[in-house]
Amino acid sequence: MKIAMLTSGGDCQGLNSALRGVAKSLYCRFGNDVELYGVRDGYRGLIEDDIRKMNRNDFSGILTLGGTILGTSRQPFKSMCLPAEEYGGKTRLEKMLETCKKYKFDCLVVLGGNGTHKTANLLSQNGINIVSLPKTIDNDLWGTDMTFGFHSAVEIATNAIDCIHTTAASHGRVFIVEVMGHKVGWLTLYAGMAGGADIILLPEIPYDVDKVIEAIDKRDKAGKRFTILAVAEGAISKEDAALSKKERKAKQKKSIYPSISYELADQIYQKTGKEIRITVPGHTQRGGSPCPYDRVLSTRLGAAAANLILQKQYGNMVGLVNGEIVPVPLEEVAGKLKTVDPDGSIIREAKSIGISFGD
Ligand code: F6P
Repeated sequence: MKIAMLTSGGDCQGLNSALRGVAKSLYCRFGNDVELYGVRDGYRGLIEDDIRKMNRNDFSGILTLGGTILGTSRQPFKSMCLPAEEYGGKTRLEKMLETCKKYKFDCLVVLGGNGTHKTANLLSQNGINIVSLPKTIDNDLWGTDMTFGFHSAVEIATNAIDCIHTTAASHGRVFIVEVMGHKVGWLTLYAGMAGGADIILLPEIPYDVDKVIEAIDKRDKAGKRFTILAVAEGAISKEDAALSKKERKAKQKKSIYPSISYELADQIYQKTGKEIRITVPGHTQRGGSPCPYDRVLSTRLGAAAANLILQKQYGNMVGLVNGEIVPVPLEEVAGKLKTVDPDGSIIREAKSIGISFGD
């Protein structure tokens, strides 16, 4: 049995532990009858036939290792079916199908997030046997309650807020910690709550800058010397949310601010004279060792993926649903985002302890 594995899109903690989970489980079941191949840098390696045979030792000692031993890259889904000059006029999809045919893989195991799953579904629709695993620090993948990488990133972003707490308290300042998460607010919501942020701004709940200032004033009046805002990189004001996509893009193009936090800080300064400090932990949120939760989740998902291969249940992602790992059809996952429900219980609970969402 010939199995290829690839990791695609932004890296996160738990990729290596998931690869190890798949490999160990396959070796335990198939022994020497299984041949594992590592595709370098995600779909790039499949397009360019950059593939190497792996052995058992490759998967030893990587449970706690951050990053991905296979390397990764971003290959936009929208480019997959376009003829490409660098590939002699062939599409990237055609190149990938050629590579799979050449090696006669029984299954391609894909570890990725949203964009990756769109391409995985495309490959599956074109006859490739696929089993996939949900990874991303954003936790925005449809069909799974949790992606691996998320909880490790929550720990890092929470730690950033914890560290800001002490200096904010000493100086009596207002601080913004900008948290990753692309278009969704899960990471900011969890890190914000875990770090005791006073104001949490998410893409799913457009904010009003005057409400944000009201929340800061309220703390001032209550004698609190500092305020901490956890702001998602994708947070959006009510005004911007009312713009069309085209208008928003044009505004962003002209913007002098490196990110939303800088724009918000400037608006607060203009209206109140308060100086705001900004901290952006950025890619540190994707770095380092997976936390124990992610080690367990990625190992379980890896073992479950191997099980699907054993049963020839291709065309599925392994997802965590109500505590159980289940197969979820790729066509259900591809192209859908799992966002924070603005009226969901976690938001209501956060609001009930006085956290402002600027709405
Ligand atoms: O999807 C993971 C993520 O870290 C997002 O939170 C973030 O918006 C994006 O990737 C950053 O991408 P890049 O590593 O390409 O800058």
